[in-house]
Amino acid sequence: MKVLIFKTKEEACNWTADKLISAIKDFQPSAEKPFLVLGLPTGSTPIDVYKRLVAAYKAGQISFKNVVTFNMDEYVGLSAEHDQSYHYFMNENLFNHIDIPQNQIHILDGLAKNPTEECHLYEEKIASFGGIDIQLGGIGENGHLAFNEPGTSFDSVTHVQQLTQNTIEVNSRFFEKKEDVPQKALTIGLKTIFNAKEVIVLALGRKKAEAMYQSTRMAVSENCPASLMQNHTKSIFVIDEEAGSKLS
Ligand code: GLP
Repeated sequence: MKVLIFKTKEEACNWTADKLISAIKDFQPSAEKPFLVLGLPTGSTPIDVYKRLVAAYKAGQISFKNVVTFNMDEYVGLSAEHDQSYHYFMNENLFNHIDIPQNQIHILDGLAKNPTEECHLYEEKIASFGGIDIQLGGIGENGHLAFNEPGTSFDSVTHVQQLTQNTIEVNSRFFEKKEDVPQKALTIGLKTIFNAKEVIVLALGRKKAEAMYQSTRMAVSENCPASLMQNHTKSIFVIDEEAGSKLS
């Protein structure tokens, strides 16, 4: 595990975007490995990274023709058209503006009739592409990764997750009222994330300082899902000074 602390949010986002841009540029498709597989998050944290990816695409620096994406999570009960669904977020912030073929985009279906089956198929789909090459993630104030809440097993794969009151409250800022926040989500598991060849967790702002402290300075524990990244040989926490304010 590495922790990279940048002075500003902008520098942290630029570093992260540049890392993805280089990976996309350098990727050489072959018969055995036709696609670079990216794991992608939602939330306010990655928005500026997506802006830079879109800008790099528009400037002709990169193409997403050989990129496959798997999003981390989706709320149960929200359609792709709902403006708080993660489908909607991804279309608005990234997919509508780049040249990725629709069939190379994967997002869990929050309206799946059989959510358990949906999760199982998602995990199989990830495996069919040889796993995730680079997993980008944000972090919850309680240390969650994707929607893996504290207490989730490190062995978890894609599953249905009951959200904690804390997450519902934190995420209610995006909804009209707290009651509108779905109580459940579909999420890739901690093992799914851990199995990625490389994991980048981006954390910005003072609100993430405690989660960063628990994740990187305390013992690895299922009480803080992101602490699992301490055991990953190619994990990087990319943070700004505010998120790192409890690390000195
Ligand atoms: C949600 C998402 C997470 C995300 C977290 C932090 O709960 N499921 O994947 O990392 O929020 O969001 P933000 O980046 O807005 O702080």
